[in-house]
Amino acid sequence: MDFVYDALVVLHLLGMAGIVAGLVVRASAPTGPGTKVMLYSAGAQVLTGVALVGLASSGVAGNEPDNTKVAVKLVIAMIILVLALIMHRKPRSGKGLFVTTAVLTVANVAIAVFW
Ligand code: HEM
Repeated sequence: MDFVYDALVVLHLLGMAGIVAGLVVRASAPTGPGTKVMLYSAGAQVLTGVALVGLASSGVAGNEPDNTKVAVKLVIAMIILVLALIMHRKPRSGKGLFVTTAVLTVANVAIAVFW
């Protein structure tokens, strides 16, 4: 099971990279594919994150997760998902949504590393 867990961590990190890539694409082309990339990547973060927590909680791989940390990360990831959806539906939406998505993504990385 360790291999499956590690593979999910790899996908989780690629998902994070995908959100950042989506932000960069969106910054240069508001009507381009950036928000779609963000949407799929944020979805991947929620799915891989929940799967990681499931495996870790059941004790088959990883370390016992901190449920408060996981809950905070999940809420932030859901907000990122909703913001990406709004930006996708309204390509001309203001800069606020974009900046909030970027800040929340960095926040989730910081929480993952420092908490
Ligand atoms: C935008 C959303 C997210 C970002 C950017 C993100 C980022 C990261 C990063 C960078 C790591 C690696 C940390 C390290 O190895 O020190 C990590 C690990 C982890 N994340 Fe997330 N995460 C997100 C969402 C979530 C969600 C929604 C969950 C669970 C519901 C979750 C659960 C986990 C778990 C359990 C680990 C530990 C993996 C391990 O054993 O190293 N993450 N996350």
